[in-house]
Amino acid sequence: MTDSPHIPENPWGQHLEMAVRAARAAGDIQIKAFDKTRRIDYKGATNLVTEVDRACEEAIFTRLSTAFPSHDFLLEETQTSRSGSPHLWVVDPLDGTTNYTHRYPHFCCSIALVVEGRTVLGVVFDPVRDELFTALRLRGAFLNGRPIRTSDEDRLIRSLVATGFPDDIGRARDKNLRKFARLLHCVRSVRRSGSAALDLCYVAAGRLDGYWILKLAPWDTAAGIILVEEAGGCVTSLHGGPTHLHTKALVASNGRIQESLLALLSPKTRSA
Ligand code: IPD
Ligand code: CA
Ligand code: CA
Repeated sequence: MTDSPHIPENPWGQHLEMAVRAARAAGDIQIKAFDKTRRIDYKGATNLVTEVDRACEEAIFTRLSTAFPSHDFLLEETQTSRSGSPHLWVVDPLDGTTNYTHRYPHFCCSIALVVEGRTVLGVVFDPVRDELFTALRLRGAFLNGRPIRTSDEDRLIRSLVATGFPDDIGRARDKNLRKFARLLHCVRSVRRSGSAALDLCYVAAGRLDGYWILKLAPWDTAAGIILVEEAGGCVTSLHGGPTHLHTKALVASNGRIQESLLALLSPKTRSA
């Protein structure tokens, strides 16, 4: 007789396997087309989409919708009809399109499965470094199959944090400049990588101690959030409350610096 707790079998293993295959297919497309000239369309003055974004989305959608024909999809580049399935795949086929367009080698694809409003798995694949980040709810977070944990740092002044700016020029960007300036004096340094999904994975892997952003879409964050949570970290709204699929502004960290970050970033903070 063993006294170890009974861990029920995870029902999402097969879904994870399919999501990994789809993410690797997208990564192949990204790498093959990386040095080629590409057509850029504009969703806004600084919000780009290329044929590579669309080809990756098609590759992911074809694989997952063939494997799970009754599931619904929330895709960045294509509107799909919903059947009301409790299963929703949330897909960013190419996160870091601006980087990609400039041949700045920092981008990925991001896939999450949300079941009845709760994210149960996340996959983020960086084909440049061949880094595959995966997480299964209650089963932990992994980088290329090895468990990852958030950092132990509890002093803001010794923390490396990152942020992002929305693609569309709006008030959020100005607000974030103020927050950026305020934080710069309180942390070791601030990074701005151009891929929200990788920023969140870097928090999960302990490469960053924290991350904040004022305006993101579900496909930017769904996979990254479960990665951070399963790696032992913490993700909240800017007010410190729980996040949901459509939370736009969030703060993620190793948990230890979360309160300090919120104190500086929360809208209640003077001149926020
Ligand atoms: C963008 C990136 C970027 C973030 C933007 C996102 P895209 O996603 O994640 O880091 O700051 O707000 O829109 O357009 O490259 O998929
Ligand atoms: Ca994105
Ligand atoms: Ca994208």
